[in-house]
Amino acid sequence: MERSTGYIIAFAAAVCLVCSVLVTSSAVSLKDRQVENKRLDRQKKILVLAGLMEKGEGIDTAEIDERFSDNIQAHVIDLKTGDYDPSADTGNFDQRKAAKDPSTSTAAPSNNSGIQRVPNQVLIYHVLENGEPVTLILPVEGKGLWSTMYGFLALAPDTTTVKGVTFYEHGETPGLGGEIENPSWTAKWIGRLAYDETWTPVLEVIKGTAGPVETDPTRIDGLAGATLTARGVSHLLDFWLGESGFSPYLEKFRAERSAS
Ligand SMILES: Cc1cc2nc3c(=O)[nH]c(=O)nc-3n(C[C@H](O)[C@H](O)[C@H](O)COP(=O)(O)O)c2cc1C
Repeated sequence: MERSTGYIIAFAAAVCLVCSVLVTSSAVSLKDRQVENKRLDRQKKILVLAGLMEKGEGIDTAEIDERFSDNIQAHVIDLKTGDYDPSADTGNFDQRKAAKDPSTSTAAPSNNSGIQRVPNQVLIYHVLENGEPVTLILPVEGKGLWSTMYGFLALAPDTTTVKGVTFYEHGETPGLGGEIENPSWTAKWIGRLAYDETWTPVLEVIKGTAGPVETDPTRIDGLAGATLTARGVSHLLDFWLGESGFSPYLEKFRAERSAS
């Protein structure tokens, strides 16, 4: 049976319309699940960093939430003053949104991390033992070669000894810059020092091989074939450990601890 051109065009348009409605409605209906999965992934990364979960351990959502709420305390802090904001809703705090909104962020000073705006407040975590913080988990981010790399840096309560690092989102090349996720590389960070004795940020990823923690505590092995990503990691450390990042908060944390 011969169909007219008009019929064929109308038929094709109807098929396109039905398909686009299907794709749009599934994207919309899956949005909440995607957001929830991202939240869970971040929580898992934090639990692993805190030593409260093995990497790849199969635990369900309820167990993740339980381990998190039993051992980890979230705080929203003011970056400039280093003060806690006890009235903030830590559960729904969206740092990326805050950084984009001019009413909740400030222009970043010139930096090598590609950071344009700094949120006035950020969400950090304390890992608790007997009610006392044993690890501080701080969000960090900055440009690599291809992408913005998002991670967490874990510091001991002395605020300088590194207890771990994790990068949970980036678009660096797998096998090259993507090695920032490799546990055998991140293991090399443990025990290194973020600051010198004047509380200036000194930790850096070098090109080549760093010495042992005992004799070369402020340098971390480079990533072969990924010097530009590695440089991005050094830059983000410099930014977030500095005055525009966590330095005021960490100073207050040390002062409060030595006073108590
Ligand atoms: C397809 C492709 C992907 C690359 N991805 C990365 C990357 O993710 N991170 C990075 O630093 N360099 C990457 N590079 C290499 C950089 O262009 C550059 O050569 C490298 O960072 C230099 O590091 P090296 O001095 O350790 O060799 C990539 C190169 C190619 C061709």
